[in-house]
Amino acid sequence: MADIGKNDEAVAAALDAPVGRGEPILQVRNLQKHFPLTQGILFKKQVGAVKAVDGVSFDLYQGETLGIVGESGCGKSTVAKLLMNLERATAGEVFYKGQDITKLSGRALKAVRRNIQMVFQDPYTSLNPRMTVGDIIGEPYDIHPEVAPKGDRRRKVQELLDVVGLNPEYINRYPHQFSGGQRQRIGIARGLALNPEIIICDEPVSALDVSVQAQVINLMGKLQEEFNLSYLFIAHDLSIVRHISDRVGVMYLGKMAEIGTDEQIYEHPTHPYTQALLSAVPVPDPQARAHRERIILTGDVPSPANPPSGCSFRTRCWKAQERCSQETPILAVPARFQGQNTPAAHFSACHFAEEKQVVPVH
Ligand SMILES: Nc1ncnc2c1ncn2[C@@H]1O[C@H](COP(=O)(O)OP(=O)(O)OP(=O)(O)O)[C@@H](O)[C@H]1O
Ligand code: SF4
Ligand SMILES: [Mg+2]
Repeated sequence: MADIGKNDEAVAAALDAPVGRGEPILQVRNLQKHFPLTQGILFKKQVGAVKAVDGVSFDLYQGETLGIVGESGCGKSTVAKLLMNLERATAGEVFYKGQDITKLSGRALKAVRRNIQMVFQDPYTSLNPRMTVGDIIGEPYDIHPEVAPKGDRRRKVQELLDVVGLNPEYINRYPHQFSGGQRQRIGIARGLALNPEIIICDEPVSALDVSVQAQVINLMGKLQEEFNLSYLFIAHDLSIVRHISDRVGVMYLGKMAEIGTDEQIYEHPTHPYTQALLSAVPVPDPQARAHRERIILTGDVPSPANPPSGCSFRTRCWKAQERCSQETPILAVPARFQGQNTPAAHFSACHFAEEKQVVPVH
């Protein structure tokens, strides 16, 4: 089995390359973030660590959308912050066009950051209420004046408002004068201001009404085409992720459980956790609903400060056996599917990976 927990070229080659998507723009290798747990007031002593991200590896290709799904607390936002270098990694690497950005600082980091931008979850709290929309969208130009010199900023911001479907005349309005969907468009315009190549979207539509969600998702799809953007799209709603993603990664307790194309993950999942998540997705067709099996997971997600030995999913897995408590499964094409030309032959971190169709095929 190929071990993608290690940084080597064979591993990179083994990672799923989406057809026709070109080169990886971001290569994440064995990324870890352990937050120290301390005790004591005057003399702080480390007594443990919250393993928020515990060895995550994946590639992001130019122009693709990689969806990341998983329950609350599994480490999605921490991965996003590590990719933006807003948090320093405990270990591991993030290569942007071959350069490890986890080790950068100062001007080199600033130059890379220009190309990797973020759109946040909550358009109500992520925009400064005391700043005009023009100042919010144009703020990145204060740090990177080379992109838009002072005299050109107003025109640039108005162009961006137009690009995200807002009236350029709204430039002097304040965030409270906009709806939730419009505010998220402002957040996207700000994310686009520096002409980035990658946009990390952390639950960008979760705070919006369902009807508005589709509009924002469609806008993001249009912008991706127009500017050849690569998206890392984090969400807990599997239907939305499927709609927008070329590939999907499923996270559990700081690790990647399974990763593949949207067809592989949604129609041919092999990891029990993915299967359980998918079985809970609402099915609109009543006939299909009647025939599908619902997998109910028992027990709570264990604490990332004290994850189970071996497979971290084993305390909730209906297939767990002795081996699962002793041996940590590697994220790789499972031995039984290796060399086979089947959609089940994709990366899955399970000793007993097998196909189980949980979402009815239409
Ligand atoms: N600064 C921090 N210090 C200590 N623990 C942290 C810190 N930030 C996050 N964590 C912990 O790390 C784990 C992962 O958190 P994270 O916010 O990445 O999860 P998430 O998948 O984004 O969850 P959600 O879906 O709720 O947004 C959680 O257990 C969280 O409590
Ligand atoms: S390795 Fe074992 S516990 Fe983990 S998902 Fe597979 S069967 Fe379940
Ligand atoms: Mg989060």
